[in-house]
Amino acid sequence: MTNGRHHDETALVTGANKGIGREIARRLAAEGMTVYLGARDEHRGREAERSLVEEGLDVRFVRLDVTVQEQVDAAVRRIEETSGRLDVLVNNAGVVVEWGVEVPDVTAAQMRSAFDVNVFGTVAVTQACLPLLRRSPAGRVVNISSPLGSLTYLGDPDHPISTRGLLPYSSSKAALNAITLVYANALREAGVRVNAANPGLVATDLNDRSPFDRGTRGPEEGAEVPVRLALMGPDGPTGTFRGSMDGSVEETVPW
Ligand SMILES: NC(=O)c1ccc[n+]([C@@H]2O[C@H](COP(=O)([O-])OP(=O)(O)OC[C@H]3O[C@@H](n4cnc5c(N)ncnc54)[C@H](OP(=O)(O)O)[C@@H]3O)[C@@H](O)[C@H]2O)c1
Repeated sequence: MTNGRHHDETALVTGANKGIGREIARRLAAEGMTVYLGARDEHRGREAERSLVEEGLDVRFVRLDVTVQEQVDAAVRRIEETSGRLDVLVNNAGVVVEWGVEVPDVTAAQMRSAFDVNVFGTVAVTQACLPLLRRSPAGRVVNISSPLGSLTYLGDPDHPISTRGLLPYSSSKAALNAITLVYANALREAGVRVNAANPGLVATDLNDRSPFDRGTRGPEEGAEVPVRLALMGPDGPTGTFRGSMDGSVEETVPW
């Protein structure tokens, strides 16, 4: 069932077949949006689409491996042909490639795999979506980041994040934070707002091999901050990094 407040709007969520992304897709569709559910695997994407459509939501699977430019272009073409514009882009697809790998053992290949999804994938999708976002009266981009990418926390030896030692993940999320700010500055005049969201600590497949505490929060709670940023009105912020470990959108994370 939808409450219809955003019934004329369209959203794309990447990596939305499970975890926080699936829940963001569900919540945006429940607001009345047409939601394109990006997933790199057709079977997993269709399963997620089916379960959300059964809830009465307008959710449409689109095959989207963010590292494959042809899939990015095809997905955006489809959105243009069927919806004509995009109001919300949530860059949610993300990977951790280094659980169990000590910092001195991290290879350049592992760095490339993390950057391929978390950084280059985000830019590929954002760049392709920008013409459609500019057609929206209030385009919003939400990049799902992490406090693990905060240079302030990494630079504070007393902060627990400085001891986590996740070289590919932290550096790719730090790059994502810079990308968020550069896009926010470049698109301010055009009225497209770009923010980074901290979903907080959420137990998902991403961290099921983590040696650290995964917390007890579920994807429903993790979706709270990204959804609030995706639904904000035309006077909402741009160039901010929002969210706390317990899901408060009012709090900001230091870059
Ligand atoms: N969980 C946390 O505590 C936490 C905290 C801070 C930030 N985050 C961020 O939140 C986002 C969602 O993570 P999650 O915790 O929900 O993890 P998750 O359940 O593992 O979901 C990750 C999603 O990204 C997709 N994905 C991976 N590589 C992709 C690619 N090349 N193209 C398209 N999709 C791809 C996965 O698809 P497959 O199913 O096909 O693998 C999956 O749908 C990530 O950006 C993560 O960094 C999570």
